[in-house]
Amino acid sequence: MDRSDILVTAPMPPIVSQTLAQSLSLHHLFEQADETAFWREVGPRIRGVATSTLFGRVEAALFDRLPNLEIVSSFGVGYDNVDAAAAAARGIVVTNTPGVLDDEVADLTLGLLLATVRQIPQADRYLREGRWLSAPFPLSPTLRNRRIGIVGLGHIGKAVARRLERFDLSIAYHGRTEQPGVPYVYHPTLVGLAEAVDTLIVIVPGGAGTRHLIDHRVLEALGSDGILINVARGSVVEERALVAALQSGTILAAGLDVYEDEPRVPQELVDLPHLVLLPHIGSASVHTRNAMGKLVADNLIAWFAGEQPLTPVPESLHLLPLLRRP
Ligand code: NAP
Ligand code: 8YV
Repeated sequence: MDRSDILVTAPMPPIVSQTLAQSLSLHHLFEQADETAFWREVGPRIRGVATSTLFGRVEAALFDRLPNLEIVSSFGVGYDNVDAAAAAARGIVVTNTPGVLDDEVADLTLGLLLATVRQIPQADRYLREGRWLSAPFPLSPTLRNRRIGIVGLGHIGKAVARRLERFDLSIAYHGRTEQPGVPYVYHPTLVGLAEAVDTLIVIVPGGAGTRHLIDHRVLEALGSDGILINVARGSVVEERALVAALQSGTILAAGLDVYEDEPRVPQELVDLPHLVLLPHIGSASVHTRNAMGKLVADNLIAWFAGEQPLTPVPESLHLLPLLRRP
């Protein structure tokens, strides 16, 4: 294998660079003192990119700087940070990290759901503030008899649903297509699902196709006992509508792992008591971040060994029979 030049755009688990450095020549963008000189002198040599959401968007402006780019390996299953269609138009393959994080994100989703319904962080704060000495913590809402609606019954959505079955809760879902072989009720419209349930768990991809899918109409349909859990992307929920719905009692409570302008979180959300806020930690265990990092590296290694990448995104599939340019 030739030691092809790879650009690492943002800090990632050490396993990424350690694995790549065995056979490829690495350039860490965030360590460059003079970025302009880097693009001019090294840009034309770069043939692969390892990137993550921490870098921002990988799109035409970056592709213009990397005229010999062949492959972008993105850290995360969601790849709304990469313009995969623009990449495909230039013959650039894009890969992501599906599958290796499903259980971790599903575990976190269940934790966030329980924390939100039973007000676990609020109870923890109550004890630490010495308030238990004066009075017991107020009674919380319950998970019992909740009707759960999953928006996006994909790999992670199914892992969430399997866990929820053990909680003896009714499960329904919405997506653009009905999933074969699942025992859950399908709703062809999102408002229809929101009307039928009292708890919505959102786990669809981000990007233009799902922007503000959860808007004021969906929140109104969910109703005053409604709980919203968003572990998908911040862009999927219209944050202003959510703030208004929580302030007015249109819905009861929410648990969020993702935000429209991460890592900035609107003060209105921070100030609301009936909300559990997590800093985008769905996959953030050492175990799972290492598995994701290994897949980021293995996709690049496979490609530069002349093999098919392991996990190409759908937009890239038509490029693959061509394999790598010699
Ligand atoms: P997946 O297997 O591709 O599933 C995505 C699901 O969303 C599919 O069931 C799809 O069904 C549905 N969907 C897509 N577009 C839709 C639309 N416009 N309206 C309604 N449903 C739609 O993906 P996954 O692996 O489960 O991951 C899902 C997303 O979770 C990722 O893309 C990422 O954004 C997010 N995520 C977040 C974290 C975190 O740390 N919080 C971690 C991992 C992933 P149809 O095609 O039938 O519509
Ligand atoms: C990552 C995620 O934390 O996989 C995803 O889509 O949202 C998370 O697992 C994120 O992509 C890190 O860049």
